[in-house]
Amino acid sequence: MNQIDRLRKTAAQYGQEHLFQYWESLSDDQRSVLLDDIERIDFATLAKLVADQDTGAMSVDESKIEAPPVYPQCAGDEHAQLYASATRLGETMLADGKVGAMVVAGGQGTRLGFDAPKGTFPISPLRHKTLFQLFAENILNLNRTYGCKMPWYIMTSSATDAPTRTFFDENDYFGLDRADVFFFEQGVMPAVDDDGKIILCQPHRVAISPNGHGGSLLAMRDKGVLEDAARRGVEVISYFQVDNPLVSPADPLFIGLHANSQSQMSSIAVPKADDLEKVGNFVSLDGKVQVIEYSDLPDELAHARNPDGSRKLNAGSVAIHLIDRAYVESLTGDGELSLPWHRARKKVEYFDLATSSTVEPVAPNATKFEMFIFDAIPLATQSIVLEQPREECFSPVKNAEGVDSAATARRDMVRRAASWLEQCSVEVPRDTVGEPQAIIEISPLRAISAGQLKQSMTGALKINPEEKLYLE
Ligand code: UD1
Repeated sequence: MNQIDRLRKTAAQYGQEHLFQYWESLSDDQRSVLLDDIERIDFATLAKLVADQDTGAMSVDESKIEAPPVYPQCAGDEHAQLYASATRLGETMLADGKVGAMVVAGGQGTRLGFDAPKGTFPISPLRHKTLFQLFAENILNLNRTYGCKMPWYIMTSSATDAPTRTFFDENDYFGLDRADVFFFEQGVMPAVDDDGKIILCQPHRVAISPNGHGGSLLAMRDKGVLEDAARRGVEVISYFQVDNPLVSPADPLFIGLHANSQSQMSSIAVPKADDLEKVGNFVSLDGKVQVIEYSDLPDELAHARNPDGSRKLNAGSVAIHLIDRAYVESLTGDGELSLPWHRARKKVEYFDLATSSTVEPVAPNATKFEMFIFDAIPLATQSIVLEQPREECFSPVKNAEGVDSAATARRDMVRRAASWLEQCSVEVPRDTVGEPQAIIEISPLRAISAGQLKQSMTGALKINPEEKLYLE
């Protein structure tokens, strides 16, 4: 059977034959685009999701939710020895090439109001380095520090794949060896209308969108990431999101604690900024660590307090994880991934036959389906959480203005740079509310921690208010 007949038959079998309703009026090129779109649809999974009336919202038995065990950010007497030996172990694993970096960069910067892939967003306060450049320079630093050649797996989506590759080409991979940068495209799911029909946004285009960052696990298997990592001897994947300029793509302490405790998937947490902060919440349920997204966390739990008045659920997810390669292999071994699907009501453009045009709806008209990476945590036999100071590792760029915007990320980059300099005994002028008065940027090629900055300091440094200081 040829491709057209096969796809027509499958579409009809699942009640989606309308995907071909404009076929006769399409050009040859358009027909081939439509067939490509339809080929990517997992009709069987979609049919199950449509039939399942479950809203996808997590049902939480509040009485069973506890705060999870968390390794504290400051070692203290109890953990000092463990942290020191874990750091050494992590450093050895880095030097032995057992760690690979992976960024999920499939999402589009819709909320940010930025059309290009988010990784190409200029963010550093003085040199306007893009997110991708900052991550690349972090990895170059790690390669230099540990004498390794860390592979970097970059997950894209159909919207971000081509422009991301072009961006790296045009920038000569920011000095990385291009053989160590591996792009792979994630899977998709179509949007459906209220009758469960797949939406056409043009006569020859299906409204498909990325299947969520949880889809990265299956894409790692299908697109050869697991194979590449195995060939290189990579045992642990350091996972992070494209929107966080403060992320450290590989932290020796975190890696060492993960390996020491034989965790299959570990996470970094920061103390929440407020009860209702829009981050995932680490909880313990039936002895298993898991993440409850802010939108699923009952208000009462969000506001719950310990007897001493501190917040009960205080570990916010910054979406930084260590994931064992073997764990991803076991989760995806048979080509299936059994993470739950989350559904969201969205406004999705559709093609209107009456007006022969694409319509942008004013209200949500469709359901989209996504898998979330953190749903793999409770499936692990062992999983740990390490708390880190927010100001060291987390300031995401999500919104055009206000919280989690480019302005707050730049402010936090300057704050961290100022704090590192002060830890090197450099005086930083500050205003009456304690904000640095100079704009300071530290290149990740120079230092990716206060300790490393200290080692690189030669001679005294004087900073004037209003100064723009770039440390190369
Ligand atoms: C996410 C987490 C939240 C966490 C916060 C930290 C979810 C549902 N929530 O929120 O728990 O506290 O980050 O900043 O993830 N991406 C893909 N492909 C996709 C979807 C997303 O690559 O199909 C990537 C995006 O490019 C981005 C990241 O995943 O790097 C986060 O996605 P986003 O939808 O922006 O999640 P948030 O709501 O910001």
